[in-house]
Amino acid sequence: MAQLFPKWTNTLPSIIFGGLVSLIVVITFSFWYWGSPEFTDVGYAPVQPIPYSHKFHAGELEMDCRYCHTSVDKSAFAGVPPTQTCMNCHTAVKKDSTNLRMVVSSWADGQPIEWIRVHKSPDYVYFDHSAHVNVGVGCSSCHGDVASMEIVSQEKSLSMGWCLDCHRNPEMHLRPMDQLTNTQWIPPDDQFSYGSWMVNELDITPPTDCSGCHR
Ligand code: HEC
Ligand code: HEC
Ligand code: HEC
Ligand code: HEC
Ligand code: HEC
Repeated sequence: MAQLFPKWTNTLPSIIFGGLVSLIVVITFSFWYWGSPEFTDVGYAPVQPIPYSHKFHAGELEMDCRYCHTSVDKSAFAGVPPTQTCMNCHTAVKKDSTNLRMVVSSWADGQPIEWIRVHKSPDYVYFDHSAHVNVGVGCSSCHGDVASMEIVSQEKSLSMGWCLDCHRNPEMHLRPMDQLTNTQWIPPDDQFSYGSWMVNELDITPPTDCSGCHR
């Protein structure tokens, strides 16, 4: 009896299987590298328990970020201010406003305000604010123009590919120290030569090996 299928088709299942496996690997890798957060977290802007506005306080009043995020240049964490920081002004300013009722009651009973976290890296990632801020990487490089935001929203993906893009070529992202908290800073025309000078001057070598960020 004639063979129903020619002999070469014996290898067909393994070819199909091999193809499927590579396809799955490619898809998984793409998601992993360019980061699924790109599609899920960018634009995340939860409504906070109090209508606190960066646009007003950091923008119009021109308050420095570090007045409230006091540990950003000293530790790994930027930190969110305690109620006392708000009450430095609001014991006098608008203390009877309904928008401030939760602030005043938190101050009275000592229960911290439950702000909703916006930016969050997974636990297996090591990140340190001070290591960035103290070599001239400004807030807006990673958080966007917060001083124009009524409600804070996540602007960058925070994916591994995003971290590495800057770690491989930091020159375009290093600014003078007096511009750190200026969220509308744009790199000047000679940024590359300034950035390269900074890299040499401060001996800047951001980690690109796995153990740099996964410790
Ligand atoms: C008057 C105090 C105050 C000042 C000044 C201030 N912030 Fe904030 N910031 C807060 C509070 C309170 C929150 C938590 C509520 C929220 O997310 O809006 C916060 C949240 C944030 C978050 C989101 C944190 C998270 O959960 O991921 C970022 C990013 C941020 N601030 C950056 C900045 C930057 C950049 C500046 C300066 C341009 C600044 N802040 C100035 C009080 C302040
Ligand atoms: C340096 C002083 C200062 C600090 C510190 C400050 N505020 Fe304010 N805040 C103001 C001023 C001034 C206004 C505007 C008052 C007005 O509209 O007349 C205001 C307005 C507000 C309003 C709107 C009130 C309303 O009824 O319109 C909210 C809500 C608010 N602040 C929350 C906060 C929170 C939360 C913090 C702490 C994270 C904080 N503020 C820290 C000065 C401050
Ligand atoms: C190199 C990127 C980068 C820079 C520069 C940066 N941040 Fe962040 N920020 C992050 C990442 C990533 C997270 C999430 C960290 C985590 O989950 O551990 C974060 C989280 C935060 C939070 C949430 C609370 C916390 O402590 O984690 C605040 C507030 C904040 N940043 C404020 C600031 C301010 C203010 C500046 C400038 C003085 C700044 N950041 C500069 C990347 C950056
Ligand atoms: C806009 C540029 C930029 C981005 C984005 C960025 N980094 Fe960095 N990173 C730097 C620079 C510059 C340094 C400083 C290197 C030095 O001082 O030699 C650094 C240093 C570090 C270090 C070394 C800190 C230490 O104490 O040794 C770690 C870890 C790190 N970054 C993690 C991250 C992670 C994780 C992300 C993403 C969530 C990230 N970085 C995003 C520019 C960036
Ligand atoms: C500059 C910092 C940085 C370096 C260097 C780095 N990673 Fe990551 N990695 C991250 C961040 C940030 C995330 C989390 C991103 C996210 O939420 O998808 C991550 C996530 C991962 C994940 C989890 C992926 C997932 O989707 O759950 C793996 C696995 C991983 N990294 C492996 C590596 C390996 C292997 C290397 C070395 C070749 C490496 N990383 C180097 C920052 C880094």
